[in-house]
Order: sequence, then C-alpha cells, then structure tokens
Amino acid sequence: MRYYTGVKDLGNLDEAVKEALEVKKNRFGYKHLGENKTLLMVFFNSSLRTRLSTQKAGMNLGMNTMVLDVNQGAWKLETERGVVMDGDKSEHLLEAIPVMASYCDVIGVRSFARFESKEFDYQETIINQFIKYSGKPVFSMESATCHPLQAFADLITIEEYKKTDRPKVVLTWAPHPKALPQAVPNSFADFMNEANVDFVITHPKGYELDEQFVRGAKVEYDQDKALAGADFVYAKNWSAFQDPNYGKILSTDMSWTITTEKMALTNNAFFMHCLPVRRNMIVSDDVIESPQSIVIPEAANREISAQTVLKRILESL
Ligand code: CP
Repeated sequence: MRYYTGVKDLGNLDEAVKEALEVKKNRFGYKHLGENKTLLMVFFNSSLRTRLSTQKAGMNLGMNTMVLDVNQGAWKLETERGVVMDGDKSEHLLEAIPVMASYCDVIGVRSFARFESKEFDYQETIINQFIKYSGKPVFSMESATCHPLQAFADLITIEEYKKTDRPKVVLTWAPHPKALPQAVPNSFADFMNEANVDFVITHPKGYELDEQFVRGAKVEYDQDKALAGADFVYAKNWSAFQDPNYGKILSTDMSWTITTEKMALTNNAFFMHCLPVRRNMIVSDDVIESPQSIVIPEAANREISAQTVLKRILESL
C-alpha cells in the first residue's frame, strides 16, 4: 500500500480487519519494519486522538516520528497556484511539500474542509498535492472529505463488540453549535457499505450526504424509526453537503440528541462516537457514561487502525 485515503486502499475489508486484530495481539512484533524509517505527521488542524495514536503506531513499528503543526510555529502556507503572495503567507505548499518529504519516508496529512469552495474540498486539493509532489507514501489523518483511519477503527470496534453476524448499525446526525465537515460520516458510510452490517443513516431533511459515500444505503428521516432494533448507534454531527447550503448549519434540533430514551428504542445498542464530542448536544451524560458506551475502546482502536495502515505501507517500501 503506497497511499491510504479511503476504504478502497484496504482491498478485502475482512482480511484488513483480521490483520488489524493480529496487530492488536502483537503490536510490538513488527518493529523491524520501521527501523531507520521516519514518519512525518503534518497537521493543518487540531487533533488529540489522531496525533497520539498515529505517533504511537509509528513507534510500535520502530519508526522515528516527527510532527509539524503548520499553523503553530511553521511558516503560513499558501495552497493555491497563481496567487500573488503579498499577504501573510510566507511559503508555498509546492516548495514546502518536497522539502518536508526530503526529511522522511512516510507522510500523514490532516487537512479539514475549509467550506470556502465545495469543489476545492471535494477535489481533495491539499492531500492530493502531497501525493503528487512529495514522492513519498502518503496517508490521510482526516482530509477534507474522508477520515479513513477513524472509520477503520470503528469497523474493528464493531467486529469486536458485535453479538450477531450481521448487526444493525445506525449512523445518526445530532446537533452541534459549529459547522463540521462531512469527513467522518462519509468514511463511516463508505466502510459500512462494504461491511457485513445492516446499515441505516438518519438525519433531518437537508443533511443528505454525497451519494458517492451513501451508495444507496437506507436513509430514514425519522430518527426513532431508524433507531428501532439497532445494535450500534453511531452519532455524529455534520454540516449540509447539498448546494446551495454546503458547509452550513440547517438545524440545531435538540430532539436529535442521543439520550437514554433514544437508546431505549434500540436492541440494547452500543453507543459510538469518534470524539471529541459535545456532551448534552450530541449525547447525554448518562448515555456516554453508560456501560453501553464504547467510545473509549473505539478511540483506543485508532492506534490499531493506524498501525495496520503504516505496517502495510512499510511492507511496500
Ligand atoms: N477522532 C479524531 O480524529 O480525533 P482527533 O480530532 O482528536 O484526532
């Protein structure tokens, strides 16, 4: 594997999950792969889980790891060609990428949607520039439209906790005070559509996701109906994808918050969220603190998804 930007890069998903579970049992068994190899993690946006879990994954594999926070301590980067650079941006990404690449063997990139242009975001302009100009393997640590390390960790977690061969998994929109990207729900849908699950998406009208990720999955606008019989409830906020409202908040309807009453509609479902989560907006204190909440093991599996992806990249060098 040279690039990891979406579910397609994993190939057979069952085999990828099996490999991840092997990595989890023997996470220090592959240290030879990363000897004298350097991982550079480039962050254009904040992170807690991705930063720590990916760095830990690299260290488990014997790699040296470096982190660059582009907006804290590095030169401000221009990303568009043709711009007269007479503003506050001192360096162009087209020089910065090959320079960064000269110091490392593998590059992880986090760069969120900007909501200035749907075309710029959905063409994945930033991560594709790293792929084009670095000459090094590149993996997504959440791009403008996808968060495949998160979705892979989510699938590993579902595999570990499922009680039936084909569980019902519900992705539900929930309210949030700020406009958030569609990357997490896009990737979650992409992975669930490939997995052996009964997948349902529920959200208020106007929050329809891009069909390239929904891929014909069942969309139920009545949240209570969607939650009925669910084995896993995956809550997440996202802003509108459809024009003319791209990147906008259309609703803050608190009746979509996941509460004990909502969870009572399910088949004693496990509660999942990628974190960070706004309590009593997305989910009530009671639900996230309940025994059915698996948000902590889900976050812990970020180390495993990152290590499995890095292992495959190192094996291909
Ligand atoms: N879920 C996730 O990616 O968390 P961070 O934004 O903290 O990395």
